[in-house]
Amino acid sequence: MKVLGIETSCDETAVAIVENGRLIHANIIASQSDLHAIYGGVVPELASRRHSELLLPMIDQALKAGNCELSDIDLVAATYAPGLMGALLVGLQTAKSLAMASNKPFIGINHIEAHLFSPWMNHPTNVMEDLLPALGVVISGGHTLVVYMKALGHYELISHSLDDAIGEAFDKVAVMLGLPYPGGPHIEKLALEGNPKAYTFKAPHVKKFPWHFSYSGLKTQVLYAIHGQNLEEISSGGGAKVLPFQQKCDLAASFQETVIQDLSHKLSHLALEHSACSVWVGGGVSANQTLRNHLDKTLPVPILWPSRELSVDNGAMIAGLAFYQYQHAGASPWTLPVTPRTALGSWKLADATHTSST
Ligand code: KG4
Ligand code: ZN
Repeated sequence: MKVLGIETSCDETAVAIVENGRLIHANIIASQSDLHAIYGGVVPELASRRHSELLLPMIDQALKAGNCELSDIDLVAATYAPGLMGALLVGLQTAKSLAMASNKPFIGINHIEAHLFSPWMNHPTNVMEDLLPALGVVISGGHTLVVYMKALGHYELISHSLDDAIGEAFDKVAVMLGLPYPGGPHIEKLALEGNPKAYTFKAPHVKKFPWHFSYSGLKTQVLYAIHGQNLEEISSGGGAKVLPFQQKCDLAASFQETVIQDLSHKLSHLALEHSACSVWVGGGVSANQTLRNHLDKTLPVPILWPSRELSVDNGAMIAGLAFYQYQHAGASPWTLPVTPRTALGSWKLADATHTSST
């Protein structure tokens, strides 16, 4: 079964063609980071407009790259949640229109779930059951969460961020250091030349929820380390203070080290507590090699990582997951709305009389 997958939930326009859940025929990603860089974050209206301009030509390009025509596609999938309302609408409406016009079923995919699923795509084994139950971890610009995954489509939320998402913390610290958006990869690069013990930052510990995450206080610690207690300087925008290169590297390394230690400590505990056979980690921050090296060494069970191109937002994870979801729960109804904010739900069998396959 060949699936066309469309992803437009935030600032990447992405289209892919994937066969039977894992065989990637095409995976095209157009990043908008240049467009949003000067604003230090994503501007929703600009993101939607860029998606509208790029999506149809990119679908053509993906079909060409995958050596196929629309008639060879068996299922059209798009992210319907969560994300920016306008951005999601572009992808979802395009997917529905394409499917309807070419008489194919359509399926809406949850973006967080696709990140969770992504490490499976390049894993060498073919027997998913050997890796289950697993701890599913999403560390991205919009989410930090851990689920107990009994099987694909069956999730129980066990931990999440109480404030900033982990990638958001990377991006905000990057702004303080005068680095471009998105900041994660730049922090990682600077950190390679810094001393991770130069500053003693602490990931806030929330007494009532010891296994949840919180990064907003850590971000403030970095802000104070840069500006001292100079509240005037901070309230005048703080912004990027010109810092000596080595100090920037030390700040980046110390911040990153604190995040990594926090993740390692909490994920180790949760993996043991839930008797997980493996830990699946997805989302943009999982591209961080220093983090990968550390968690591979410290976690008590094997970790599945997505390839680099499957870590960040992409259409392949949408098309890949769509194949499995379609087998289990069928097509989505044509009336499926975009849902900018949503929790991760388990799969329910669709009411066959209302799906797009009838
Ligand atoms: O999954 P993603 O592409 O989009 C969301 O669903 O949010 O994640 C983007 C996030 C950004 O915050 C970016 O700074 C972060 O992933 N990121 C990284 C790295 N590469 C991307 N964070 C740390 N280290 C990296 N190498
Ligand atoms: Zn994402």
